[in-house]
Amino acid sequence: MMRKSILLAGAFMAGITFSPLFAADGAGAGTSDAASHRTLVVYFSQTGEQYGVGTITKGNTEIIAEMIAAETKANLFHVETVASYPFEYKAQTDVAMKELRAKVRPAIKGDVKDFDSYDTVYIGYPIWWGDLPMAMYTFIEKHGWNGKQVIPFCTHAGSGLAGTPGKVRAACKGATVLEGLAVAGTTAQHDRPTAEKEVTAWLQKIGMKQLTS
Ligand SMILES: Cc1cc2nc3c(=O)[nH]c(=O)nc-3n(C[C@H](O)[C@H](O)[C@H](O)COP(=O)(O)O)c2cc1C
Repeated sequence: MMRKSILLAGAFMAGITFSPLFAADGAGAGTSDAASHRTLVVYFSQTGEQYGVGTITKGNTEIIAEMIAAETKANLFHVETVASYPFEYKAQTDVAMKELRAKVRPAIKGDVKDFDSYDTVYIGYPIWWGDLPMAMYTFIEKHGWNGKQVIPFCTHAGSGLAGTPGKVRAACKGATVLEGLAVAGTTAQHDRPTAEKEVTAWLQKIGMKQLTS
């Protein structure tokens, strides 16, 4: 109950109406013609105690990120903070709220090798208080996005994309942002065949699936 009210408060704060699974955002189909096309899936994802799925050893967003990478033959980069978040869910949401309010850019570990050589970048994240985890902005703001094709996806506990593709578009200056995907965290964690179907249908819809054929 407590958790639910935290989430609803977050949704309210962010002016969110819970969106349908395929909340449309952005331009039409993607470009995927060149054989030399380089694709990256960059994502943030947490283990530990999670909303609606219990204690997990593989993050919900990581599960979806790996599915997308497998289907598009992409490289993966996991954005991890130098300072870890509390294991316990409520403590995690408190820290995340403070970071959001202060627009903190937490230090992150490592970087993508040869980032400029990628022309398509999937950006994946759990919805945190109706926004991206601040560490994703750390990553985004470290890099140049001009001319890239950016494709957002998230996992969530009811908010859907929560308007985050607009935030991704604002942050990734000069990029073309395609329609995003929202997968429920519980589906990613406990019903992988359904999650896989959602990922495949979305990739086909945005014109990225033919990359694999
Ligand atoms: C700090 C924090 C804030 C969250 N805020 C929201 C939210 O505003 N809306 C929502 O639907 N889910 C929210 N959630 C739930 C996560 O988005 C969901 O559990 C997600 O699948 C976690 O992904 P991960 O396992 O990749 O970290 C929040 C979770 C945390 C830890």
